[in-house]
Amino acid sequence: MSALTDTYSLLNEVQIPKLGLGTWFIDDAAAPAAVSAAIGLGYRNIDTAQAYGNERGVGEGLRRSGVAREELFVSTKLAAEIKDYDQAVAAIDESLEKLGLDYVDLFLIHAPQPWDQFRDGDNAEGNLAAWNALEVAYRSGKIRSIGVSNFLEKDIENLIGKAEIAPQVNQILLHAGNTPTELLDYCKQQDILIQAYSPMGHGEILGNAEITEMAHKYGVSVPQLCIKYTLQLGTVSLPKTANPEHMKANSELDFEISDHDMQSLQNLNVRDYGKSIAFPVYSGK
Ligand SMILES: NC(=O)c1ccc[n+]([C@@H]2O[C@H](COP(=O)([O-])OP(=O)(O)OC[C@H]3O[C@@H](n4cnc5c(N)ncnc54)[C@H](OP(=O)(O)O)[C@@H]3O)[C@@H](O)[C@H]2O)c1
Repeated sequence: MSALTDTYSLLNEVQIPKLGLGTWFIDDAAAPAAVSAAIGLGYRNIDTAQAYGNERGVGEGLRRSGVAREELFVSTKLAAEIKDYDQAVAAIDESLEKLGLDYVDLFLIHAPQPWDQFRDGDNAEGNLAAWNALEVAYRSGKIRSIGVSNFLEKDIENLIGKAEIAPQVNQILLHAGNTPTELLDYCKQQDILIQAYSPMGHGEILGNAEITEMAHKYGVSVPQLCIKYTLQLGTVSLPKTANPEHMKANSELDFEISDHDMQSLQNLNVRDYGKSIAFPVYSGK
């Protein structure tokens, strides 16, 4: 059994590998080598986004790997600024074209507000319009599952109350030191699978003393402990690295965190993201 090939079942029975590769900050030119290396190491779940500017390179990496399309799970995200039906329809097709794919396995709305209004603006109507475009693409077979990212309970309620298809996934900031338990519980009740992004806090928590001490106790690295934590919470883990040695190490997770230590990691508060605080998702909003 391996997190690379073990899967969760989404509401619509689509299977999603538990461990994936994040590709934020892997630029378009570097993405083919990183993605094909990851797939060569057994990764089957690759996460990108329109905002990362690397969909072309990610698509090239998928093809370079030589692994059959149906064995791969590819996610991308609708730009957070798109809150309009026609623009969303066009952007979905543009992603497919850039990736060079007939379909993607998961398409997410990247955030409930455009980034410059993160957690401020009211985009209920716009999110519904973007969601309707995802629903249409889902029904036509261009997308195998649809979901959201950075959505809070109220943002999800807006879709569930008014749309025909409920989100199947919510991709959120989740790592040892930042565990939004109420949102996790809510999504669980709604059968929405959580994907943990920044499982190492965008790299900013790798030096944390408590996490480091616990990693030593288990004889593992801090990234391994952080990734295992998110998996044991029952979420998909999406660590980012372009380094094949890190990719390999991040998938070697043959240990178990005790219930007591899981609770300690859950209770930890490590939300100092250093310079990364400039990104809305780490701003504490
Ligand atoms: N939906 C959203 O709004 C959103 C927001 C943020 C992230 N995400 C997704 O989540 C993915 C992961 O999050 P993230 O990129 O923010 O950060 P992360 O995965 O928490 O951390 C990445 C950092 O950890 C380092 N790292 C990874 N494995 C390592 C290892 N074995 N040893 C030492 N260092 C290691 C990486 O450096 P190296 O590259 O040198 O290995 C990089 O600096 C993103 O790529 C993206 O796909 C989504």
